[in-house]
Amino acid sequence: GERLDFRTSKQRLLVVANRLPVSAVRHGEDSWQLEMSVGGLVTALLGVKEFDTRWIGWAGVNVPDEIGQKALAKALDEKRCIPVFLDEEVVHQYYNGYCNNILWPLFHYIGLPQEDRLATTRSFQSQFDAYKKANQLFADVVNEHYEEGDVVWCHDYHLMFLPKCLKELNSKMKVGWFLHTPFPSSEIHRMLPSRLELLRSVLAADLVGFHTYDYARHFVSACTRILGLEGTPEGVEDQGKLTRIAAFPVGIDSERFIKALELPEVQDHMKVLKQRFAGRKVMLGVDRLDMIKGIPQKILAFEKFLEENPNWRNKVVLLQIAVPTRTDVPEYQKLTSQVHEIVGRINGRFGSLTAVPIHHLDRSLDFHELCALYAVTDVALVTSLRDGMNLVSYEYVACQESKKGVLILSEFAGAAQSLGAGAILVNPWNVTEVASSIGYALNMPADEREKRHHHNFKHVISHTAQEWASTFVSCELNVTIVEAQLRTR
Ligand code: ADP
Ligand code: F6P
Repeated sequence: GERLDFRTSKQRLLVVANRLPVSAVRHGEDSWQLEMSVGGLVTALLGVKEFDTRWIGWAGVNVPDEIGQKALAKALDEKRCIPVFLDEEVVHQYYNGYCNNILWPLFHYIGLPQEDRLATTRSFQSQFDAYKKANQLFADVVNEHYEEGDVVWCHDYHLMFLPKCLKELNSKMKVGWFLHTPFPSSEIHRMLPSRLELLRSVLAADLVGFHTYDYARHFVSACTRILGLEGTPEGVEDQGKLTRIAAFPVGIDSERFIKALELPEVQDHMKVLKQRFAGRKVMLGVDRLDMIKGIPQKILAFEKFLEENPNWRNKVVLLQIAVPTRTDVPEYQKLTSQVHEIVGRINGRFGSLTAVPIHHLDRSLDFHELCALYAVTDVALVTSLRDGMNLVSYEYVACQESKKGVLILSEFAGAAQSLGAGAILVNPWNVTEVASSIGYALNMPADEREKRHHHNFKHVISHTAQEWASTFVSCELNVTIVEAQLRTR
């Protein structure tokens, strides 16, 4: 189909996501410091440049006073961000509760919380009420900043109620919604007590997008089975209204990573890392410290590899960089202790006075350090138990043009569909299989590494974040419907 040229007519785009690309830290009554937020959604959206974009979201902090709110709004305005202020109780019930304790685990096939997990954040119903209230607050801010002709693009499971709220405020608003997580099988989704209401509100959007065709198919099945609606090749129809549904696989700003490798600071980091680990192969894990990332499983597989391959014991090291996330949710606190316990045990078992097999860091790395790590390591280990896409795997590939390292990738990450041919695909639950894949990766001959890398690199540089966003937005504007439909087949 025909394409809009966003360079000549910059389309105004309102991105609405729970998390802003920067999170605020207070330094005084009216003084704020802004720090980069970590996560796939932020990485992808920061790679989008061809629109006149404003970003509406929560700054990750409670600001009860008016002076603070005004000062923060001003600081954010310079980044073209508009804050939605949520009070502490709403955040607790909506973000910690409904989003991260209910929707997140369910959409990743972990299931719904047992009684004890619910008890910490009150009842399911009060959490859902807070979720709806928070979504309404987002809608009010969007409505305040909306100008005719704007495209409104809502993101992720935090804002499933938003399309309906927006259409109620202004039925002419163009509204798209994109999910960054998997949409689970309809048999899993139907466990959700608020399943009807959430599906209906998502369907109020004009366009609904997912990372993969499978997620789109699961969503259509849920609409068919739970709402009794008809699924057509274009989407779902409800009383004459068609909601278009398609797959738009996300990518990264690959050029940013490739160019960064030339910077002196990145080269310096690379030099230090190479010296530090000289004579050893280095395996890398980079994740938010999240239950879906399969971090304990990854470390146990590495232990099994060391157990079965004594000759490798002083010759390989695993660097696991795990940035803490959602630290107010008890499940995440438990995971942190569990990971520390396993790492300590394995280092005690296989370490020596001068070296340990696992370096585990509970922190985020800055962009330059991260690029250097991606570039110098021999194997990346992505073992998500479920993952919408997983951009870490894309970033690793982008930085491996000279080394041609091996990517071990979970078959349950969306990225398995795009990088599967170049990566070694594994079932992360099968520790024996992952352990033997580690051996295979470490021993892989150069020509095979090169072939696999080349396949993935080609994909990563040609399926970028910008292309993802342009396709979604032009589809939302009705220009390339046909193209998007073809992508789903
Ligand atoms: P998710 O969306 O679940 O966070 P992705 O793999 O898609 O997972 O994206 C994670 C993003 O966060 C990537 O851009 C990655 O570089 C960044 N990231 C994750 N962990 C860290 C870390 N420890 N330090 C710095 N950046 C990180
Ligand atoms: O889809 C993954 C995701 O939920 C993104 O929405 C977000 O960028 C990331 O995880 C980080 O999570 P949070 O916003 O809860 O810190």
